[in-house]
Amino acid sequence: MGRTVRVKSFELAARDINDVDVKLLHALSIAVGWPHRPKDWDFLRRAGQGIVAVDGIGRVFGSAMWFPHGREFATVGLVITSPRTQAQGTGRWLMKQVFERCGERNLSLNSTDAAYHLYLSLGFRKEAVVYQWQGEVVSPLPPVPVLDGELTSLAAENVEEIAALDERAFGTSRQRLLALLSEGASICVLRRGGEIAGYSMKREFGRGHVIGPIVASNDRDAIHLTAVHLKDLVGRFARVDTREQTGPFADFLQQSRLGMNDTVTTMSKGRRFLNRKEGEPWVYGLAGHALS
Ligand SMILES: CC(C)(COP(=O)(O)OP(=O)(O)OC[C@H]1O[C@@H](n2cnc3c(N)ncnc32)[C@H](O)[C@@H]1OP(=O)(O)O)[C@@H](O)C(=O)NCCC(=O)NCCS
Repeated sequence: MGRTVRVKSFELAARDINDVDVKLLHALSIAVGWPHRPKDWDFLRRAGQGIVAVDGIGRVFGSAMWFPHGREFATVGLVITSPRTQAQGTGRWLMKQVFERCGERNLSLNSTDAAYHLYLSLGFRKEAVVYQWQGEVVSPLPPVPVLDGELTSLAAENVEEIAALDERAFGTSRQRLLALLSEGASICVLRRGGEIAGYSMKREFGRGHVIGPIVASNDRDAIHLTAVHLKDLVGRFARVDTREQTGPFADFLQQSRLGMNDTVTTMSKGRRFLNRKEGEPWVYGLAGHALS
């Protein structure tokens, strides 16, 4: 008998991501070292659309998802090729399938280092770096500045109260996503002068909790909207994804003794995605890499 065997190449076809067992998606994300639980995949499948690359006997070798907001914009994420079939064109093919299904929409995504050149070659342009802070929350938390306004909790059924503020920060209305995110989330709202000046959510994800989205008009408000959730998470695992590199909010995260685990790069194709204006609401904490 020969000492080697030549394995036939796989022929992969695109299927709707809802047609496969969540266990196969979970196995795919585990294979690339991502923390998603089956529950997280279920949530993402409710929030967006996607495809998987499957072979003739239903094995999943790749995935890609997109999260449309209105007719003109979508975020892209969960682009994964199984390690044993990487560097053979599946990633590029998955992205072309996404382009076909997203039509003329402007797109944005948060790219890992592994995917950066692929996205560049597909016409995406770099906009910002996202810093992923995570770890066990340790007491005491760093000091916070004086609070300007009042922090209150918001019930999920009233999530539409934050939709207008969120749209100003995110650049596009994402009301349906906010409603889904709010299910099971703890939502904190900052009220000032009778108006909502910021909000933040704490949600279960991956190894623990994500604090995000965090929307505020200045670092001081963002610190309060983050600290309020961190206080509840002492001794537990928390994660915050932010585009703040310097300034009081970035300093606060650094002093909180969470670790800076990784960075990804926000990229866009078509219209520029990020549009920060002085004093205007801004997304200080992302809902997630795929959701932005
Ligand atoms: C990023 C990823 C999806 C790419 O998938 P893939 O199936 O390997 O992609 P392709 O084979 O289509 O390769 C795309 C390009 O990247 C290059 N590439 C792929 N793997 C590479 C590697 N290990 N080193 C250097 N270049 C590589 C290829 O040369 C190709 O460029 P080319 O078409 O000009 O030759 C895959 O590496 C992956 O799943 N990584 C882990 C999860 C991840 O980071 N996903 C991205 C989320 S934003």
